[in-house]
Amino acid sequence: MSILVVYYSRTGSTARQAETLARRLNADCDEICAGTAYDGPVGLLNAAFTAALDTEGPAKTKRFIRAYDHLIVGGPVWGGQLPGPLRRYLIFNDPKTRLAGAFCTSWHGGPQRAFFNEIRQIVGIPTFPNFSVEQRHCEEGLINLSAARFARNLSTSLSNVA
Ligand SMILES: Cc1cc2nc3c(=O)[nH]c(=O)nc-3n(C[C@H](O)[C@H](O)[C@H](O)COP(=O)(O)O)c2cc1C
Repeated sequence: MSILVVYYSRTGSTARQAETLARRLNADCDEICAGTAYDGPVGLLNAAFTAALDTEGPAKTKRFIRAYDHLIVGGPVWGGQLPGPLRRYLIFNDPKTRLAGAFCTSWHGGPQRAFFNEIRQIVGIPTFPNFSVEQRHCEEGLINLSAARFARNLSTSLSNVA
């Protein structure tokens, strides 16, 4: 059973959470490289005003999704929604049955329903395990309660399938 954790991160918080989760799940981890520049002050303005429209073209990763049985995706919440690069990745790669779960990081934590609903709509599956983490809890190597529960439940359900 092979698992890939794919994430987009503008300032590193989601990256830390993704790497910690991947270690827990014994999974590979890969970063989405944005086709649009979202770094620096100009990138921040771009993220704030145009990310919701960012759907064109591939969002590049190093690893090939089809080499894995299961996919977990993560990203920061932008304006309550998906960040553009993660949206592109999902549209372009069409993960459907591979999607085993998703997570987000944000200032406020909370359920972030619009973020996960957008993934549901793009991927076309009614439900999947998910969790949300406050940015200030995304420390290297530390996993919070909801992320730990997510990892434990996922490990159990996937090993039952395998
Ligand atoms: C353009 C933009 C919009 C954001 N919108 C929200 C939001 O609607 N709600 C929220 O809680 N956090 C919001 N945030 C905060 C990010 O989700 C948070 O800082 C995240 O953990 C950053 O992850 P990263 O370091 O992986 O980029 C926003 C950040 C940016 C840059």
